[in-house]
Amino acid sequence: MQSIFLLLGLFADAISGSPLQQPLREIQPEASRKLHGRFLHITDFHPDRLYKPGTSIDRSCHRKKGGSGYFGAEGTECDSPLSLIDETFRWIEENLKDDIDFVIWTGDSARHDNDEKLPRTADEILELNTYLSQKWVSIFSQDHAVSSAASQLSVPVIPTFGNNDIMPHNIFNEGPNKWTKRFAEIWNSFIPEDQRHTFVLGGWFTSEVVPGQLAVISLNTMYFFDSNSAVDGCKAKSEPGYEHMEWLRVQLKILRSRNMKAILMGHVPPARSSEKQNWDETCWQKYTLWMHLYRDVVVGTFYGHMNIDHFIIQDSNKVDIDAKVDEKVSINSKADYLESLRSQWSSLPTPPSGIFEELDSGSERYSDVAPAKKGKKEKKKRKFLDKIGGPWAERYSVSLVSPSLVPNFFPSLRVIDYNITDLDFANGADVSSHELYDAISEVDYTELDTSPTLETQKKKKKDKKKKPNFKVPEPPSPTAPPGPAYSNQAFTLLSYTQYYANITRIHEEIAAGEIDEPRLDFEIEYSTNDEVYQMKDLTVRSFFQLAGRIAEEESEADVNSPSADWRQKKKPVNSVWQAFLRRAFVGFENIDDLDD
Ligand SMILES: *[C@@H]1O[C@H](CO)[C@@H](O)[C@H](O)[C@H]1NC(C)=O
Ligand SMILES: *[C@@H]1O[C@H](CO)[C@@H](O)[C@H](O)[C@H]1NC(C)=O
Repeated sequence: MQSIFLLLGLFADAISGSPLQQPLREIQPEASRKLHGRFLHITDFHPDRLYKPGTSIDRSCHRKKGGSGYFGAEGTECDSPLSLIDETFRWIEENLKDDIDFVIWTGDSARHDNDEKLPRTADEILELNTYLSQKWVSIFSQDHAVSSAASQLSVPVIPTFGNNDIMPHNIFNEGPNKWTKRFAEIWNSFIPEDQRHTFVLGGWFTSEVVPGQLAVISLNTMYFFDSNSAVDGCKAKSEPGYEHMEWLRVQLKILRSRNMKAILMGHVPPARSSEKQNWDETCWQKYTLWMHLYRDVVVGTFYGHMNIDHFIIQDSNKVDIDAKVDEKVSINSKADYLESLRSQWSSLPTPPSGIFEELDSGSERYSDVAPAKKGKKEKKKRKFLDKIGGPWAERYSVSLVSPSLVPNFFPSLRVIDYNITDLDFANGADVSSHELYDAISEVDYTELDTSPTLETQKKKKKDKKKKPNFKVPEPPSPTAPPGPAYSNQAFTLLSYTQYYANITRIHEEIAAGEIDEPRLDFEIEYSTNDEVYQMKDLTVRSFFQLAGRIAEEESEADVNSPSADWRQKKKPVNSVWQAFLRRAFVGFENIDDLDD
């Protein structure tokens, strides 16, 4: 992994050195693009034109003498100076541009409204979003000219609304509204032509990043967001959240029928623990059900907003609602939230020893109806597998949350590797992307009113009480193999590499007069297949295993860990949990300062 990036870096250096030696890139139709098996997830840029280096953090880094740095005020709530934004795009252009297949850009592309003396304006929000959009276009334009046609981009970019991309923040009314209309123009290069109408109606859309094979679905999480007081969840048919879930269900249904896969993305993640609930519960319920019943279609889901690096496990068996708390922002409450995840994970079913090794070695015997061997151990294993939804842990789904570019900690971005081994590119190119959308317009929405046939045991129980007022999706066909989120195949996420820029160090170098022209270079913070996380891929079962290791009270691995000072403290330390915490804060926060 690291060596691949080293090579890519060298390659980028080589071509950026002399533009004249650079071969002209071939202008090709999108469908026959060569895939690299890699994409970028970047989130929460929060550009702020009012940011001034050397100003006070207590004044949002806008005025009064203080310690704000050239590339931002790391570890604070200040927004991003344009120097950070511009250097980030330069770095992407030089190091990633030619090696990624698409970009997932999950919102909050304007500054916060956190300075009473300088309130935001709608024009400012739109202008900052336009600024970032033009940056993408200029990087990925085939001819390097800023162009407005989506087909001109060498790499699809998929944006979404953040809660700070609208005014007042968090408040997003039912569409069409002035925001969906204006962003349809600003994101003209990113929203496929045939999705514009849908986008103006609801602020959501689909982009076929690998035509005929893989779609990215951009969710408008503003309609799920608990803090959006203009809407009320996903239960009532009059709500845009209800419509959004119906649209999503139909999208996934059509993708399944076309044998395609989907990546989902949005701004606000479906966090749900004793410390935090981001989405209205009725939206979370439908989402979790959709993810479960379309588990043969969904490859993975990507979110931003929370600024901390972590993942969330949705349990399709969960219907009870944990206590809600108000939104908090302090680092300590973030640590509390991470603790609450850990405590959630500590009640995941405990794997009998050796079970994952057996499953990883490709043992088929757990798919047998009759146990090959009898005995206590065997029974225990089968019981465990029953609990987690079979050998692929299909009871669960996972949401990935990337930390932000805005330096609440250090500026950060993520590159994800996915499996392209068995892809048949010729096939994909033959399929017209219009098929999907034509099919959608044929869907009769009155069908949604009919009462559903319920498949699963649990749903049957529920049905006795009350029939849902929505159409419950069909589960995967019983003969369908497990989807790419569950077993390694085409489009399965294999690993990700988290990059960060240590701007503390760069600021020190600037202060010491060691740098004439400040540059920002991202370096590797960690990869999921490193010696700590040890994830062989990013399937749900791999996250289940990692969650279990994070939740363990103490780990036998600690004895060998050089970083664990368990000997002195006389208190066992789980080094995986420690790493998870450190990574949540992009290596910025000294985790010893956090309360246990
Ligand atoms: C990709 O999936 C195929 C199965 O379709 C598998 O054989 C191969 O090992 C996977 N590639 C990687 C890099 O994991
Ligand atoms: C960042 O740089 C500072 C100053 O050089 C250093 O003390 C700190 O350990 C670095 N942090 C990381 C995560 O690289």
